[in-house]
Amino acid sequence: MAKNLVIVGAQWGDEGKGKIVDILTESADIVVRFQGGNNAGHTVIVGKEKYVFHLIPSGILHPGKICVIGDGVVVDPEVLLQEIEVLKSRGIFRPEDLLISKNAHLIMPYHKKLDTARERLRGDNKIGTTGRGIGPAYEDKVSRCGIKCGDLLNEGDFRLKLKANLLEKNHYIKTILHEDGFEIHEIYHQYMTLAAGIVPFIKNTSKFLHEAMGFKKNILFEGAQGTLLDIDHGTYPFVTSSNTVAGAAATGSGIGPSRIDAVIGITKAYTTRVGEGPFPTELQGAEADRLREQGGEYGATTGRPRRCGWFDAVAARYAARINGLDGLVVTKLDVLDNLDNINICTGYRYNGKVIDDFPTETSILLKCEPVYEAFEGWKAPTQGVKKFDKLPKKAQAYIKRLEKLAGVEVMMVSVGANRDDSIMIKDPFK
Ligand code: GDP
Ligand code: IMO
Ligand code: MG
Repeated sequence: MAKNLVIVGAQWGDEGKGKIVDILTESADIVVRFQGGNNAGHTVIVGKEKYVFHLIPSGILHPGKICVIGDGVVVDPEVLLQEIEVLKSRGIFRPEDLLISKNAHLIMPYHKKLDTARERLRGDNKIGTTGRGIGPAYEDKVSRCGIKCGDLLNEGDFRLKLKANLLEKNHYIKTILHEDGFEIHEIYHQYMTLAAGIVPFIKNTSKFLHEAMGFKKNILFEGAQGTLLDIDHGTYPFVTSSNTVAGAAATGSGIGPSRIDAVIGITKAYTTRVGEGPFPTELQGAEADRLREQGGEYGATTGRPRRCGWFDAVAARYAARINGLDGLVVTKLDVLDNLDNINICTGYRYNGKVIDDFPTETSILLKCEPVYEAFEGWKAPTQGVKKFDKLPKKAQAYIKRLEKLAGVEVMMVSVGANRDDSIMIKDPFK
């Protein structure tokens, strides 16, 4: 029986991780976010209530389950406090259910300015970031000048680190980016005020997880973004600034990789992407619009329309390899219910040959032409179906083929946004 389970996005994000984490939290004791920041938008729908989580793990709706913001996350304290306030106002939040790692780095006001100003300077070559300061915050972490959540506990230290950062950042912002700089006292007072709300949650979360494992607790690791947005393994430079793959669950939460029992990838029954970058199976015009409208494909964080296309088995196989996937969850099958014809990409035609290994180079991906296998649509509703063998036969065949092509067992199928619209084939915790 799996005790510690990692959930990752198998595509370019927004695969429905929030919904699946919420469901699997039922069998977990602890849910951990281990990377990314409030670039994430994880939606959970329970009954008529909709929740979108940016930093707080999607397990928070289950009282008594501990939610951890791990070492590898970058935290915008203002956003975190807003998220806590919204949950409080909806009668959900229990302070004893949240822990934040002292090692998680802070997103500072200058990170957000650097993110948006750089995107502006890039012009047509922009990445299409969420503008939340994610990249610059991770840059500072790696260049060893970042400020951590734990620094909020020591006002003197915090001020010194802020001063050193502003010396460099203000110069860069004013002379290179031609924008206004920041005043130290403004950021200092703002962050010390925010600290009052956050400090009570700051803990040594790696130690907490270690002890919890000693008590045989089940831990669910909630990835953000998706495999193809990974800084090392994604479609660089059109990626986010963290490792989004399963391996990051260990480094981003301070547990050893040997403690992970299983890795589950979440994928849509088709593909979406927000922001710029290559996307071989992308559709244009009416076909794309139909998927976008049917699937409600607008960003949960920025509201941007998502680019839409067919399921890409080349990318799925790659995600299976990079993450060591033990299982797949296929979401949003219902979005395909009304289509006459559906395609799955089985390979790419590149330079006159068919390749079946995902190339991450932009220059190659842009020249890859998808090779499709065509399926007749099932033209029947799937929402409300609770068992795999009760799905329309053609929908079952579609999932079975997708499973074969991806080379990973499908453990769950999701047929609607609601918590209840889910078909469990094999419980990954059991
Ligand atoms: P995440 O970032 O991976 O958590 O995914 P998002 O929340 O950004 O985007 C997934 C969207 O699809 C949300 O609006 C979900 O409510 C919705 N969703 C999830 N699963 C399903 C499903 O099976 N069918 C439909 N129609 N919508 C779904
Ligand atoms: P969830 O967790 C989809 C994309 C942005 C942009 C690129 C870099 O909800 O699946 P960043 O702000 O991270 O520097 O932007 O990454 N991106 C996401 N796309 N889902 C996400 O998160 C994303 N987080 C970042 O659109 O292309
Ligand atoms: Mg999302």
